[in-house]
Amino acid sequence: MAKIAMLGTGFIGEFYTMALHGQRNPDRVVSVYSRSEENGKKFAQKWNIPKWTTSMEEAVNDPEIDAVIISLPNHLHLEAVQLSAKAGKAVLCTKPLGRTAAEAKAMLEAVEEAGVMGGYLEDLVYTPKTLKSIDYVKKGALGKVLWARSREAHPGPHSDWFWNFEMSGGGALVDLGCHCIEIARSFIGKDIRPVEVMCWADTQVKPIDAEDHAIGLVKYANGAIGQFEVSWCFRGGMDLRDEVSGTEGSIRTDHFLRTGFEVFTAADQRGYVAEKAESETGWLFPVGDEVHELGYTHMFTEMFNCLEQGTEPTETFYDGYVVNAIMDACYKSAKTKKWEPVELEIWRGRNDVQDGKAIQEYDAQYLLIKEEKLPNGTKKIILKDKKSGEIIQREIA
Ligand SMILES: NC(=O)c1ccc[n+]([C@@H]2O[C@H](COP(=O)([O-])OP(=O)(O)OC[C@H]3O[C@@H](n4cnc5c(N)ncnc54)[C@H](O)[C@@H]3O)[C@@H](O)[C@H]2O)c1
Repeated sequence: MAKIAMLGTGFIGEFYTMALHGQRNPDRVVSVYSRSEENGKKFAQKWNIPKWTTSMEEAVNDPEIDAVIISLPNHLHLEAVQLSAKAGKAVLCTKPLGRTAAEAKAMLEAVEEAGVMGGYLEDLVYTPKTLKSIDYVKKGALGKVLWARSREAHPGPHSDWFWNFEMSGGGALVDLGCHCIEIARSFIGKDIRPVEVMCWADTQVKPIDAEDHAIGLVKYANGAIGQFEVSWCFRGGMDLRDEVSGTEGSIRTDHFLRTGFEVFTAADQRGYVAEKAESETGWLFPVGDEVHELGYTHMFTEMFNCLEQGTEPTETFYDGYVVNAIMDACYKSAKTKKWEPVELEIWRGRNDVQDGKAIQEYDAQYLLIKEEKLPNGTKKIILKDKKSGEIIQREIA
């Protein structure tokens, strides 16, 4: 059983606490930090949390607690991690880890020097559908992964600080791209080095200094490509979809809008539908249990099991750092309009990976290009002669 200090009582602090206290879970939030006495008290009473404080230092130094969960705006992650590490507490930090790779690296160093656990709360890698998909990929069901695409788009975030470049460190890319990049890394292989990126980012709608829309490609050392699509100006709710395709198969997941659960109501019912839903009448796409379907339940179960057993969780501060380094390169590429290298001062993955092509042998003379059964029942085989390079086709009745 872990005793937790929750820093922040906003949107994600509420979701995390709901995940921890919502079911019969032994891990408890025992103390909450909020700048405002009133908000801290209200939050503590709502979730049956015995202590609240307006001092971050007091919260993390509380001798009763084992772990700190950081649910604060991006510009406060570094300070909160450093304070928690100094207090000798395990730290679980929400995404993005830093506003930049330099910040994320400082956080990684803080937990490693203090010898405390640094868990990166990348919930979307822990959704039941994603966990099952990663399992398929690891067992080889898709062959060699060639392309992983992840999309997160919604009409924009819910608090002022997200829209302030200094506080957030960027727009849709840093806010949503971090999820998509880590999902693609999980499919392609987290030990495979991200080599270079090409990114388009623009401010199409919102009067802000950061981008409200971005699309990017991340090239990996084994030739696989990660693709992300993020937006703060997408209308119609929150669109969360992933796709992964390999030499032997493909997977598509839809986490939010079109999951098979659709409701029509003409009554003015004014109920909560799902995160970022834009309407409460007409055809609706509710989510049965957001806390579970967004991965929070599985994420905290793994994090606190690891804390108890002294093992490393799937998502660590190191992963958060790699994601930030990829995003730094994306911002550079969006400016230069060129492929930009991913600068990783710390790389802990493989260095022996080749950009191997997944070419299939047919026989001693030919390589296989394609096999297909035609409507007339014959099978067509398209082959390439290894020596001459000639491309031929054969029909087999
Ligand atoms: N799926 C996810 O993993 C997910 C979803 C949403 C947000 N987040 C992340 O969670 C963090 C917080 O986002 P949120 O959506 O909860 O924001 P929010 O605005 O809803 O809540 C932020 C909290 O921090 C407090 N706060 C704001 N400025 C502060 C300051 N200067 N000092 C102390 N406290 C301050 C606010 O009062 C509030 O309690 C961000 O890093 C965000 O990226 C993660």
